[in-house]
Amino acid sequence: NTPIIFDTDPGVDDAQAIAICLAHPDIEFLGMTTTFGNVTIETATSNALLLGELAGQSIPVAQGASQPLVKDKFPAPAHIHGANGLGNMDIPTPKGKALAISAPQFIVEQVNARPGEITLVAVGPLGNLATALQLDPSIISKVKQVIVMGGSIREGGNVSPVAEANIFNDPHAAKKVLTAGWPLTMVGLDATHRCILTPAHVERIRVAQGALGEVLSGSYQFYKAFYKEARGIDGCCPHDSCALAWLMKPEMFTVERGHLNVEVEGLAEGQTLFAPEGREFLGNQWSQTPLVDVCVNAQGDKVVEWITDVL
Ligand code: BDR
Ligand code: CA
Repeated sequence: NTPIIFDTDPGVDDAQAIAICLAHPDIEFLGMTTTFGNVTIETATSNALLLGELAGQSIPVAQGASQPLVKDKFPAPAHIHGANGLGNMDIPTPKGKALAISAPQFIVEQVNARPGEITLVAVGPLGNLATALQLDPSIISKVKQVIVMGGSIREGGNVSPVAEANIFNDPHAAKKVLTAGWPLTMVGLDATHRCILTPAHVERIRVAQGALGEVLSGSYQFYKAFYKEARGIDGCCPHDSCALAWLMKPEMFTVERGHLNVEVEGLAEGQTLFAPEGREFLGNQWSQTPLVDVCVNAQGDKVVEWITDVL
């Protein structure tokens, strides 16, 4: 089985991915760590607790970053995920509470308790992982692997012509996490934009998932309106679920190995820069960061079938 900690800012597509963590028989769901991003930190934590409860499971939730490490805080974009992160659906207040320890502390404790075993899957801005690295750099060699949904190397961005939202929301944290030297795969827009979850897929999920299915389906309708306007498609990209699809079925993706870096300011703020392994470039700044894997393509139809089948 695959023990994971899921770092998240739920978020409509985060909710879909959380449902996969809750449903997949081979995923050992150790906990969720929350961050600001699609919503405020308080809303992210509340949604994480609620989604677990709707599935009848009590998954630990540790609250984390309320703002970026360096750049100024900015309001969450309510037109994409809704002001409540779940498409403005009428949802109950969760019964449970977050843990007393912070998200970075939770990550450090869990990884130290099971060295070599835990996969960190991060699908929001990366402050929690960056702070965990600062608290205890030894986790670099103790995690099994880190999977980041974020960035883009050839596809362009979704919040600027070059930047993807999770990286843009905290570029300083992203730079620390993507260049830390742990075994890491970036699953960015190059892969996630190949995957389109259609209304037919979501209807299958709604029928199968009970109370959680109603929230996944209702919030999807809101998210879909944004995709229609922004990308002209009848469906949405299940970005965050793609990180789990890569973890559980890597054969659905094409991967390239190379060096990543992040622009932290200026017009290209939040852009991820990639230099393929083994290529010589003028000067050697491009190859100074550790080697990582980047998903550069995905078999979109297979990925969305996998998501729907799991759910
Ligand atoms: C990422 O940004 C967020 O809006 C989504 O939840 C996803 O994690 C896609 O760029
Ligand atoms: Ca997310």
